[in-house]
Amino acid sequence: MKTAIFQFILVIFLFSCTSKPVPPTINPQAFDKVIDGKQVKLYTLKNQKGMEITVTNWGGRIVSWLVPDKNGVREDVVFGYDSINGYLNAKENYFGASIGRYGNRIAKGEFSIGDIHYKLAQNNGVNSLHGGVNGFSKKMWDVVQKSAGELSLKLVSPDMDEGYPGELSVSMVYRLTNDNELVIQYDAKCDKPTIINLTNHSYFNLHGAGNGTILDHQLTINADFFTPIDSTLIPTGELTPVGNTPFDFRTPTPIGSRINSEDQQIRFGLGYDINYVLNKKTDQNVSLAASVFEPESGRLLEVFTDQPGIQFYTGNFLDGKYPGKKGKTYGYRTGLCLETQHFPNSPNQPKFPTVQLDPDQVYAHTCIYKFSVKK
Ligand code: GLA
Repeated sequence: MKTAIFQFILVIFLFSCTSKPVPPTINPQAFDKVIDGKQVKLYTLKNQKGMEITVTNWGGRIVSWLVPDKNGVREDVVFGYDSINGYLNAKENYFGASIGRYGNRIAKGEFSIGDIHYKLAQNNGVNSLHGGVNGFSKKMWDVVQKSAGELSLKLVSPDMDEGYPGELSVSMVYRLTNDNELVIQYDAKCDKPTIINLTNHSYFNLHGAGNGTILDHQLTINADFFTPIDSTLIPTGELTPVGNTPFDFRTPTPIGSRINSEDQQIRFGLGYDINYVLNKKTDQNVSLAASVFEPESGRLLEVFTDQPGIQFYTGNFLDGKYPGKKGKTYGYRTGLCLETQHFPNSPNQPKFPTVQLDPDQVYAHTCIYKFSVKK
């Protein structure tokens, strides 16, 4: 009897091993390194649905994200490197990074709060991009708590860090639910009036990272307006209706169908690189901002947020020069970012929703990336 039970268990075990190929996970030892006197590590989050995410405390980055397709086969759908050195040696594309203090661009790296004028690093032509030269994407975050499905990180950014005023304390939680959602919750407080706009910069390809195009992915963005840009990708301050433009994704549309349109805004971005004004009933609620569906795998990604905007970027600056995980390369327009955010250059655009954070206020931002399959 015992032998029969054992054989039965063995058969089930072997079957479960062969029916769904599991790609090897990343070797956590390849992330062991001391940076700024702190230990870099790789952390794994798992749920009961076969989803698995790895995160490193260097830059608070999402490194890998295994997502089942319609047959239950898991693929890693985000860009990244197999080791910490991969990140340190490559051109900065912000793969999976936590971005701060200010996601996207601030014109000429300048802004004022009241009578005080501040000057930031100009690391993108004349503009400041993604928090400057040594933004949150390159800082060591402290791990506050870790459980099977949750990782809490903390960062204290000192007064005048990269030119931003006030000591800012940031807490960021990655929580993987059994509904295949990754909930990213940011909270921050500052001891002086400052500005803030945090976001996550994961690049997704729902075929699997490095497995070809995103131009066949069907995108929906719940936005009637976008913020048009100048040639340095700074918003002009206007809100333009999406109707009759290549930026209209109010119904599911393949990303590639209009990406090469003769359109000044597409030309400035070299493809899609634009902030959308999300349709919202109130400022506070988390609601569906965008969704991406890839018909071959059946993977569907939905993005929910309480933020007023979302940056849609099609990887137009990628060059595929630095081999990523398992030696795969990430070429021009092979990954897409959907960055929940306040509008770029808001500190210099009084008409945009404010990004000022005063000492008596708490900054809070929720972004949820939810995966499912559609057959
Ligand atoms: C953002 C910007 C892009 C580009 C990438 C990083 O998404 O909108 O213009 O700078 O980051 O390469």
